[in-house]
Amino acid sequence: MMQRPSDQRVLGYLGRALSLELTAVQQYSTQARLLAIWGLAEPAKRMRNEATEEMGHVDRIISRMLALCVAPSASQLRPVQVGQDLQALLRHNQTLEFELIGLYTDAVRHCACQGDHDNRLFFEALLAEEEAHGDEFARWLEELESPRAVDPVQQRATMHNNSARVKEKRYGQSVAGAQAPTSSGAAL
Ligand SMILES: [Fe+2]
Ligand SMILES: [Fe+2]
Repeated sequence: MMQRPSDQRVLGYLGRALSLELTAVQQYSTQARLLAIWGLAEPAKRMRNEATEEMGHVDRIISRMLALCVAPSASQLRPVQVGQDLQALLRHNQTLEFELIGLYTDAVRHCACQGDHDNRLFFEALLAEEEAHGDEFARWLEELESPRAVDPVQQRATMHNNSARVKEKRYGQSVAGAQAPTSSGAAL
């Protein structure tokens, strides 16, 4: 189904969305694996679910681009953001979700101004889901930062971070406590 192939701004929004959504998939998948390494099974599972949802967004965007006769080409995949503990990961993820929310808000506004009903609905659905993700990360952070939550999770994270550092020294691997790595993951 052909839909407004001449609207270059819609194509631009889709291209930026694809880059950001793929960035989210890479980031949340990496964090899920990192949390598992830290021994945090439940947070790892939760983060993996987030990655799966972002992969669903990627699929929808690719489908929409093909419908507009555009070859998907994400050109700005960003380095994964990691950190010393779960809270640091969640703060990075909130930042990414805010960026997605801003992008989809702009896209919805543009489509509304152009009377582009189909694409407005498409971006509105993604916007609603990213807002839900942003709320979820905020609630998760609140859970961790509430006084009642001080906290087997963080204690375990710290414990496993320390354990990972010992392994790093012993085996020359770096699996925790990383700063932002390169896009290849080599700095992990
Ligand atoms: Fe998404
Ligand atoms: Fe999201």
